[in-house]
Amino acid sequence: MALNSPAQKLIIRQPDDWHVHLRDGSILEAVLSATSRVFGRAIVMPNLQPPITSVEAAKSYRERILSSLSSGADFTPLMTVFLKDGLSPDVIKQGWHEGVFTAAKLYPAHSTTNSSDGVSDLIAIDSLLETMENIDMPLLIHGEVNDPHVDIFDREEVFIERHLAPLLSRHPGLRVVLEHITTEQAVQFVEANAGKLAATITPHHLHINRNAMFLGGIRSDFYCLPVAKRERHRLALRKAATSGKKCFFLGTDSAPHTRAAKESACGCAGIFNAPNALESYAEVFDEEGALDRLEAFASVNGPSFYGLPLNKKTVTLIRQTNIVPLVFELLNKENEKLVPFHAGETLQWKLEENN
Ligand code: NCD
Ligand code: ZN
Repeated sequence: MALNSPAQKLIIRQPDDWHVHLRDGSILEAVLSATSRVFGRAIVMPNLQPPITSVEAAKSYRERILSSLSSGADFTPLMTVFLKDGLSPDVIKQGWHEGVFTAAKLYPAHSTTNSSDGVSDLIAIDSLLETMENIDMPLLIHGEVNDPHVDIFDREEVFIERHLAPLLSRHPGLRVVLEHITTEQAVQFVEANAGKLAATITPHHLHINRNAMFLGGIRSDFYCLPVAKRERHRLALRKAATSGKKCFFLGTDSAPHTRAAKESACGCAGIFNAPNALESYAEVFDEEGALDRLEAFASVNGPSFYGLPLNKKTVTLIRQTNIVPLVFELLNKENEKLVPFHAGETLQWKLEENN
């Protein structure tokens, strides 16, 4: 990493996004362009409708992604399989051995967008987890209980106590990523179990706390799951992300929903941060005086955990006024729009063109 002093320019190894929703159909191409402009690889979430639960479905989704890339784009989608009740361990093994699945994603049923087919009983899928432990395939977890009696702001903490800690004891060899962590309890738990356990951290959970959703009225653009928590949790996440510790790495959870879907009476959960994701993280690392650790978080810790090679290319960030547009046009037939994270705000870093 080369760093000028004072830092006006930051050159880092090309980053990867270890948690992204690229969607499908008429919005795929535009959404993908926002991710592939900067990231070399991305772990692609399988929560389509219907979800990706077979090797064939993952292969054809991968094909659709590759054929939606703009010419000259060099980007590798890493596919995941959606765990559901009754899924055969043979599917997991086949997808892993054929190099189609990089990981499996566990959504507790009904915990988030398109997760109604998710897992209703963790114990019932224990043989799947045992298979994954044996073949050393990573398990990615949406760590929230789906129990409606648990307060929404406590669902991550309760998931860790009720489900994650026992799961790690049952499967001590299983590699697990606790996705998009939002609490100081998650930070502490991941640090205490580092090695087999790691976590992704999103840009939005580093920038906003739960007040953002209620600033002068209901702000659905800041609603995502797990929902943003109190300020003390945001500060714990910033400390964790900028610590350089190997157990924390970049995963944007960029989750586009059209303007109409966000604004409806029952607005969808998800924040579309891909258009400025690296710039958004850079802002946080800069504010924390940790620009020298951005590369570890964005480009090294993730591939190291997954056992994949580091990217060879570099990307350059310039300290430059970066005004984030109010809308991201999808340019599809339906003329739909997305509102990007930081819409209308000014960021201090910009990706150099022609990276
Ligand atoms: C994600 C989505 O929209 O697919 N939403 C979100 O709020 N993060 C699903 C998820 O990762 O929970
Ligand atoms: Zn997600």
